[in-house]
Amino acid sequence: PKPKVYVTRIIPEPGLSMLRECCEIELHESKEYPPSREELIKKIRDKDALLCLLTDKIDAEVMDAAPNLKVISTYSVGFDHIDIPEATKRGIYVTHTPGVLTDAVAEFTVGLILAVTRRIVEADKIIRSGQWDKPWNPYFLTGPELKGKTIGLIGLGRIGVATAKRLSSFEVKILYYDLERRWDVETVLPNMQFADIDTVLSESDIVSIHVPLTKDTYHLINEEKLKKMKKTAYLINTARGPVVDTEALVKALREGWIAGAALDVFEQEPLPPTHPLTKFDNVVLAPHIASATIEARQRMAELAARNLIAVLKGEMPPALVNKEVLKIRPLEKVKM
Ligand code: GLV
Ligand code: GLV
Repeated sequence: PKPKVYVTRIIPEPGLSMLRECCEIELHESKEYPPSREELIKKIRDKDALLCLLTDKIDAEVMDAAPNLKVISTYSVGFDHIDIPEATKRGIYVTHTPGVLTDAVAEFTVGLILAVTRRIVEADKIIRSGQWDKPWNPYFLTGPELKGKTIGLIGLGRIGVATAKRLSSFEVKILYYDLERRWDVETVLPNMQFADIDTVLSESDIVSIHVPLTKDTYHLINEEKLKKMKKTAYLINTARGPVVDTEALVKALREGWIAGAALDVFEQEPLPPTHPLTKFDNVVLAPHIASATIEARQRMAELAARNLIAVLKGEMPPALVNKEVLKIRPLEKVKM
């Protein structure tokens, strides 16, 4: 019999067709909404594999409901919604979609930086609301130029590097903080300099976050860190909402510790329209769409499907998160 897979959303092609070719799939027939937790737990019971999204919380309770589960393939690069140690313990392979959305997120990050510093969203609103009521003047909607400025990257993984490459064309200096110094990147991009997090925060004109959400990065950017930033600096977040303490950020914006922010991710998603963050003109908000290029979303589906199928076939998946699982449940070739 074909292995049974639960897919929690209608993902783009060719993802679904690839899965249908070799598996019996049960699909949560929605493009927009995740299954409820009750439904997820019910549907996963007899499944060998799960293809989930970042909106599905996959914890010990979900895994306990699925004794046959061999692989959790998430349609995302982030995997903070999955309890990795619990999966590893049970011999469940966890896979994700790195690489294929890197360029999309880097492009969007550059877009957010320009949007917030050059006040593009504010400008659009001004015209639409009939406030473009004066002739051209030298002071209207001015913002800082990027050339010659310092950009701080918190996290220099795939997306951080791709962002650095793009920003380098603006002739900026780039400071970065990560757990490891990236000599390989510094060789290619001579405008890059490694620094500790406090130096990055205090010397940068723009600080952009590119770390995954872990227990070590939860509220990494808190009140103390925001106070280290320049009053003229902007904070950009396309990583995960909980890396920033939202309450502290609202305070920072209210009291002018920083000049503005551009955010694609939030501690609460969807962000309600009444949220304090929506009250600031110097904040650009986006609804978690940094990877939302047609190309990236299609490649994510393809990679998520390849990951899942590989594990079921007993082959090494292209993007395994929990390498330790190889020892707990070694891969065994299966004919499919
Ligand atoms: C999006 O946030 C992702 O993790 O892919
Ligand atoms: C701007 O439009 C200029 O001509 O300087």
